[in-house]
Amino acid sequence: MSINSSSPKCLIRLENILIIGSGGRENSLAWAIQKNELVKKVFLIPGNAGSERINKCERIKIDLNNKNELIDKLNFLKIDLIVIGPEIPLANGLADFLRKKDFKVFGPGKDGAKLEFSKSWAKEFMQEANIPTADFWKVNSLKEAKKIIHSSSTPLVVKADGLASGKGVFIPDSKDECLRAAASILNGKFGDSGNVIVLEEKINGPEVSVFALCDGKKYILLPSAQDHKRLKENDKGPNTGGMGAYSPAPLLTEDYLERIIKEIIEPTIDALNKKNIDYKGVIYFGLMITKSGPKVIEYNCRFGDPECQTIMPLMDQNFVFLLEKCSMGNLTGDEKIDTFDKVSGCVIATSKGYPHEYKTGFPIKMGTIDSKDCQVFDSGTSISKNGELLTDGGRVLSIVCQDKSFDMVFEKAYKNLKEIYFEGIYFRKDIGHQVRKNFSKEN
Ligand code: AMP
Ligand code: GLY
Repeated sequence: MSINSSSPKCLIRLENILIIGSGGRENSLAWAIQKNELVKKVFLIPGNAGSERINKCERIKIDLNNKNELIDKLNFLKIDLIVIGPEIPLANGLADFLRKKDFKVFGPGKDGAKLEFSKSWAKEFMQEANIPTADFWKVNSLKEAKKIIHSSSTPLVVKADGLASGKGVFIPDSKDECLRAAASILNGKFGDSGNVIVLEEKINGPEVSVFALCDGKKYILLPSAQDHKRLKENDKGPNTGGMGAYSPAPLLTEDYLERIIKEIIEPTIDALNKKNIDYKGVIYFGLMITKSGPKVIEYNCRFGDPECQTIMPLMDQNFVFLLEKCSMGNLTGDEKIDTFDKVSGCVIATSKGYPHEYKTGFPIKMGTIDSKDCQVFDSGTSISKNGELLTDGGRVLSIVCQDKSFDMVFEKAYKNLKEIYFEGIYFRKDIGHQVRKNFSKEN
């Protein structure tokens, strides 16, 4: 990554960084940020049991809702930059609050986070700005939903309008299923997040995630990534938060990316500007490559998980400068990210039963993990009273490897996964199948 020489590195104070969040995403951000020699400490609120295995990292126990205590602590720690990982604090306006208290923050305010926390708002935003996306209807009664579902020639996708931890999207095979999904959401399955639903035309094609770091006006793209949302091999089973990913996605050729920039990325940033939304953070474009061109499936106001774990090891020590520049509105837009021709792949290990009910508290045994170009980022772990690492979530940890080819990456990832054990461990064996030349279904 080369940072334009106008970057006054020596004038920037970046000794103490704070990351808010508790997942694998936040651990991977911490891991990439601590690479910079200016950074002395990376604090995580709350982080998880894997955070303090990362160089320079320390967890802070504090209630984010106790605003006075939070500000006192951040002042005491002399925090130079705050990175907010998850969507909920962003949707609650934490970035606005911290900016008002004069902290540098990477993460959009509540107005920008609306791209994620209201699907109907995002759809109307795209419609107004002529950004390609599936046709949609915003609905707030079952009567209206029935009318639209019955008049459609194919079953529609049904989505809760608000945040639903990635569980609010239904892709029914029949109109009956469609109606049942609409009724369950409108009847309170996701609380107030389902007061409104969005019905969408079902579109088809491979999906890809593109991340733009924005400073309000300018932006820079990270390497693209492809997530594996379904629980089981061959993209079967229920949707999950993500079972693995790889980056960059070869599906996005340079020409195709140019098209996405022209039709989607720049119009999105222009439309935010027209609405006076000063978006300082990452915009996650969840895209589908359809026969008629790229379409936005969804926007998120945060990094994807596990895409973030996959991309972060491709960043060099200058990554933290990009975040700082975004927080200050100082991007030139010419910053280049050099991944040194490496590619990256990530496999998630989950608890048995995820994404449905699962048990936690099982000891995690970790043998010898390659120390070069291979990382373990904890997603849901805790430490027992006697210091033992335990499972503490549905997605437990990710193993991420980098190399010259995806075959080498996934060979290394699966070899290292053999060194990790906990009761009920589950992972997909076909992550990256699209890009592994040696992949055979018998693997
Ligand atoms: P979302 O949480 O909005 O990303 O949706 C979860 C997944 O549902 C996406 O990654 C797609 O695989 C699928 N999906 C969402 N909207 C549509 C749509 N309009 N047509 C087809 N698939 C969709
Ligand atoms: N991996 C998908 C997401 O973070 O929403």
